Amino acid sequence: MSQIPDRWQWFNEARFGLFIHWGAYALWGHGEQTLFRDHRDQQAYAARACAWKPTAFDARAWAATAADAGMRYAVLTTRHHDGFCLWDSAYTDYTTARQAARRDFVGDYVEAFRTAGLRVGLYYSLADWRIPAYWEGPARDPAGWAAFRDYVHHQVRELLTNYGKIDVIWFDGAWPHSQEDWRSAELVQMIRELQPDILINNRLGLPAAGDAPIQGDLGVGHSRLLGDFGTPEHQIVAEPDRLWESCQVSTWRLWGYTTGERWRPADLLLDMLVESASKGGNLLLNVGPQPNGQLPPEFVARAREIGDWMRLHGEAIYGSEPGEVCEFITYGRQTRKGNNLYLIIRFWDGQPTLTLAGLATKVLRATLLTTGRELAFEQSDDYVTLRGLPADRPTDLFPVIRLECAAPPQARPWAVDRLWQGDPRRMAAWAAARGSSVWADGKRR
Ligand code: GLC
Repeated sequence: MSQIPDRWQWFNEARFGLFIHWGAYALWGHGEQTLFRDHRDQQAYAARACAWKPTAFDARAWAATAADAGMRYAVLTTRHHDGFCLWDSAYTDYTTARQAARRDFVGDYVEAFRTAGLRVGLYYSLADWRIPAYWEGPARDPAGWAAFRDYVHHQVRELLTNYGKIDVIWFDGAWPHSQEDWRSAELVQMIRELQPDILINNRLGLPAAGDAPIQGDLGVGHSRLLGDFGTPEHQIVAEPDRLWESCQVSTWRLWGYTTGERWRPADLLLDMLVESASKGGNLLLNVGPQPNGQLPPEFVARAREIGDWMRLHGEAIYGSEPGEVCEFITYGRQTRKGNNLYLIIRFWDGQPTLTLAGLATKVLRATLLTTGRELAFEQSDDYVTLRGLPADRPTDLFPVIRLECAAPPQARPWAVDRLWQGDPRRMAAWAAARGSSVWADGKRR
């Protein structure tokens, strides 16, 4: 990746954040989009939202859970597509501050997360499903659209003025309107003036006409015209030549609190983090707090488990670089940092030795981070064989081995590319070692 500006380094270092989808929609227990998806009556929805009074909201408890999990930042939905605001807005009374709750939850959140030493992000939905002009669009309702768009711009200004330094602004819900419709370029300019160090995500509207997808070092992506970082959703794919963060649920599909939900196990959540890190990006892991404000206990338990793992193995994640140096998927994944290669082991086979093939760089020392024990090893041309591994997996999650190398770890030429990549002829000599015949001995004609 090209040089990351200093003010954004923290994001690349952080690797792990908490996404919080919380709003009055939690009352229905049908995810964050129940207004639309369950085709609810607008007036009945608004009345119930206005009466919402969370009894157990404690932003410090949220922040403690996030910090404990090893997360370094968070992003809270200040307003989702239903339009109900979690802060005291001067532009509407459809807010928790002016309705039954009488609280500015955004303010409490920002303060608690800052105090806990986490970076702070605000999610803001451009879409507001209450407003006919949003649905009609600028062509059919120019005046309504202009008023609505101004409302959006005012609210963004408000959010980025009233709560001190904000590290991330996370837009969503631009569909079906374009960057021009939203006047996103102006929005970005305003944001840069208000918060010069902030990171802006890439959901500021459909690309302008004629704005072709771009080809970057890591593949083809969408317009980079607007947006400092990419936000692959429900998937982990590296973005071309820019910062990115995969946002993922810890449940199934919905982001807001859902009654009767089933939870992904801690090892799956951790694997998403490790996969993101191994590809050079972050994981923004979601939780949908309960209507009363508490985090679901299932989430807290998983966060704790991951946090215990991070305390021992965090150096393999924070500030790591894309890591799939050589083949390793028969054991797990890899990350890299400086001269270190981290082997993050999913399949613990109980054998005393582990052989890594294809590492070209000289290994100086091997340590099983999980126990802190140094491991004996031998290195020949193609192989590093590690010895003295315990028969029992030393953690319920993924053990990690750190290989300290004499230089930044690199693969031998044959191992640089994965199976379906590169020039296949590089493997011919390897196959030819047994001959060329289909017979078992490679020789019989
Ligand atoms: C989607 C959904 C929204 C959710 C978001 C998170 O865009 O519309 O409900 O908040 O993804 O990435």
